Amino acid sequence: MACQAKALTLLLSILVISFCKPSDGAGIAIYWGQDGYGGSLADTCETGNYRFVNVAFLSIFGNGRKPEMSLEGANCDPNAGGCAWLSNGITYCQNLGIKVLLSIGGRSDNYSLSSADDAIKIAYYIWNSFLGGHETSIKRPLGDAILDGVDFYINTGSGLYWDDLARALHGFSGERKVYLAAAPQCPFPDAHLDTAIKTGLFDYVWVQFYNNTSCQYSGNANNLLNGWKQSWIQVEANQVFLGLPAAPQAAHGFIPVDVLNSEVLPSIKISPKFGGVMLWNKYFDHGYSGGIILDGTKLISPA
Ligand SMILES: *[C@@H]1O[C@H](CO)[C@@H](O)[C@H](O)[C@H]1NC(C)=O
Ligand SMILES: *[C@@H]1O[C@H](CO)[C@@H](O)[C@H](O)[C@H]1NC(C)=O
Ligand SMILES: *[C@@H]1O[C@H](CO)[C@@H](O)[C@H](O)[C@H]1NC(C)=O
Repeated sequence: MACQAKALTLLLSILVISFCKPSDGAGIAIYWGQDGYGGSLADTCETGNYRFVNVAFLSIFGNGRKPEMSLEGANCDPNAGGCAWLSNGITYCQNLGIKVLLSIGGRSDNYSLSSADDAIKIAYYIWNSFLGGHETSIKRPLGDAILDGVDFYINTGSGLYWDDLARALHGFSGERKVYLAAAPQCPFPDAHLDTAIKTGLFDYVWVQFYNNTSCQYSGNANNLLNGWKQSWIQVEANQVFLGLPAAPQAAHGFIPVDVLNSEVLPSIKISPKFGGVMLWNKYFDHGYSGGIILDGTKLISPA
């Protein structure tokens, strides 16, 4: 009897531990800052729906360009020094246990790296402008908050030197880790990020399973599931995420949330490296994230 009670207590504490440590389970990553105002960072994080927020984008950089952000969904102009107050939201999110990353690249084609030296130069710029660097001559577009890492959303140009950038950014990891994420497009291997991902330095790879008929959802998930199982889940990253549009207007390849829950997630969330779902983007997320069922239960709010 006593033994059974002990076993029950043990079982219960295991259950409690596994439900109270959201960082070990699957979660949702959301892009924020594009297409239109999708609510403040604090409101975004307060929903409890997200574990990662990618502030998008540092859209102009490299090859001698003066770095600039495009943040049309933020109600401020980062290039005129008007977005330093976003630091409050960033810190607020971080205090909720949510990681906030700077996303670089995007849908413009005004970025590229011209050499390994150029990659190192950009890494220093990012370190001092958004991460733990304190070079005082560099203005910090998002203020003093130290972001958790950098997301590579590289959709254009060549695949050269992004591995150098990843290594240089990783080199700044110290007492405080610099997390690295990549958002490759779903045709495998990705034309721009394959070499970078192969460095093995990326913590999170969220694959854009949208805007490409060869691998997006299109009435059925066959192509998507094949791509996931045969290729993407094998990449050398700690966690791999299924990247989806948050609404039909966000991108091609929208999956209704009940179909996602019943026909898609059950066969991909069994992968040990499954990290969760990435959504494009907050502006379009009117209830989609809240309907996603991960870990067999409704979303757990970040602790
Ligand atoms: C790239 O950005 C610079 C600086 O804002 C701008 O002058 C230039 O027109 C842009 N080029 C393209 C191709 O968008
Ligand atoms: C989709 O992927 C294929 C294969 O990589 C590529 O050739 C094509 O340009 C992509 N289409 C779009 C719309 O991006
Ligand atoms: C998806 O493609 C459409 C054009 O077909 C484009 O307007 C949109 O910006 C793309 N979305 C993303 C997230 O790449």
